[in-house]
Amino acid sequence: MVMPARPRMRKGSPRTCPGSIASKIAHSTPDSPFPMTVITDRKAFDKSATPLLATDAKRLPKLLEKLTPAQRRWVASSGFEAKPHTHCTVPGAKGEVELVIAGVRDADDPWALAHLPLKLPAGRYALGKGPVTIGEDKAAFGWALGSYQFTRYKKARRKPADLQLAASDKVAQALGVADAVKLVRDLVNTPAEDMGPAELSDIVREQADLHGAEFDEWVGDELLAQNFPAIHAVGRAAARPPRLLELNWGNPKHPRLAIVGKGVCFDTGGLDIKGAEGMRLMKKDMGGAAHAIALARLVMQRKLPYRLQLLVPAVENSIAGNAYRPGDIVRTRKGLTVEIGNTDAEGRVILCDALAYAVEEKPKLVIDFATLTGAARVALGPELPAFFANDEKLARKLADGAEAVEDPVWRMPLWRSYRRLFESEVADFNNSGKGGFAGAIVGALFLDWFVPESTPWAHFDTFAWNDVSRPGRPAGGDAMGLRAALAALE
Ligand code: BES
Ligand code: ZN
Ligand code: ZN
Repeated sequence: MVMPARPRMRKGSPRTCPGSIASKIAHSTPDSPFPMTVITDRKAFDKSATPLLATDAKRLPKLLEKLTPAQRRWVASSGFEAKPHTHCTVPGAKGEVELVIAGVRDADDPWALAHLPLKLPAGRYALGKGPVTIGEDKAAFGWALGSYQFTRYKKARRKPADLQLAASDKVAQALGVADAVKLVRDLVNTPAEDMGPAELSDIVREQADLHGAEFDEWVGDELLAQNFPAIHAVGRAAARPPRLLELNWGNPKHPRLAIVGKGVCFDTGGLDIKGAEGMRLMKKDMGGAAHAIALARLVMQRKLPYRLQLLVPAVENSIAGNAYRPGDIVRTRKGLTVEIGNTDAEGRVILCDALAYAVEEKPKLVIDFATLTGAARVALGPELPAFFANDEKLARKLADGAEAVEDPVWRMPLWRSYRRLFESEVADFNNSGKGGFAGAIVGALFLDWFVPESTPWAHFDTFAWNDVSRPGRPAGGDAMGLRAALAALE
């Protein structure tokens, strides 16, 4: 098969108008009536801000020694024990709030203060010297995300409390990461109707404009002309055409880094339609794309020394007369043929063309994010994204990064003998595994075919969603594995 030459680059021109979805979401100031939750501008500081003292249960008595007898009685009678994610407001002589004691796990917990912004009375707080010293970066991060509310369609529940913190590079970086997490949440929480392939395109284009990157995209039949047949096959039945989005940034002399994200804006399952229960949350099937976009933004914001390529195949897995069918054989960009065993295993089909394209440029490192399989959730549950890596050093860096920033991920094996599970009689392989065993591994092994063994590659099979709320992490879309990947890249 003859590969067409690398398609011409069309320089992205600014297309996002103020008030568009992209401008509402992609800027670091969230679409909220209360944007100021962490204040670092000294000129805006308020000397009368309420001090916030952090302690764990063990050191609470030490802190109490410094209070007045009346205050000690108050704390005791309120039953406060300084358990993590609790707090006690302590009154002064006139009944005003004189200080707040925050119960924390320890100084390293990035979520240590995350329960406070939406629990404390609205107003200004400042970190005081308590028995546990929460680093200002951790305070900023937890506070910023503890203030998160998804307000596109519903008024904010309340105004979050504000925290004032001395400005520093570390604080600025922590706020940048919090913004990236908020971007993931906003993108995932936005319903498919308002977050289709064109809207994802606007977001990527805006990121390119903001950071002086090149933007390029192929839409609808252009995907066929430029040899992205698998992306086209999955997305062709939707009323909104499929796209491949590309952003390139950085010094061409730096090592090439490709970041790829599954952008299935809605996954009906296709002709192998999902049941109501399984389809209910499938607006989040572009969660991988959201992670990839957010990670690319962090790489650009921090000017990390990479030549970055971001790729997002953006489609809807829809049903219509021209939908791809079970039993169809799709020829991929790489020339390998895929028998469609199940139209609901669409993520790997679009990703294989994007990965094949990425490795044509011989990157030094490839990372992809995808809400690829339900099986990864069965294996590890909703809090722990699975990752796979074909390179030990990269795997170690990711595991170490995850631990350092408390963004847990769990490695699963690329157990290559399970390739037999997706053999096909009529094509190079099948897109769904036989017997339903090892679903997450099979999904990863499918992608593995498209990345040369010599190219370090990591694949995140992430849930991108919180079923239950935890402090700083409300139910709904969320970043999982993003901070771990950033730590590894750094
Ligand atoms: N988007 C889903 C995977 C998914 C489901 C992620 C629920 C998170 C929560 C994916 O496209 C899918 O449907 N995968 C199938 C694959 C199967 C048909 C081989 C799955 O996991 O059941
Ligand atoms: Zn699916
Ligand atoms: Zn899917």
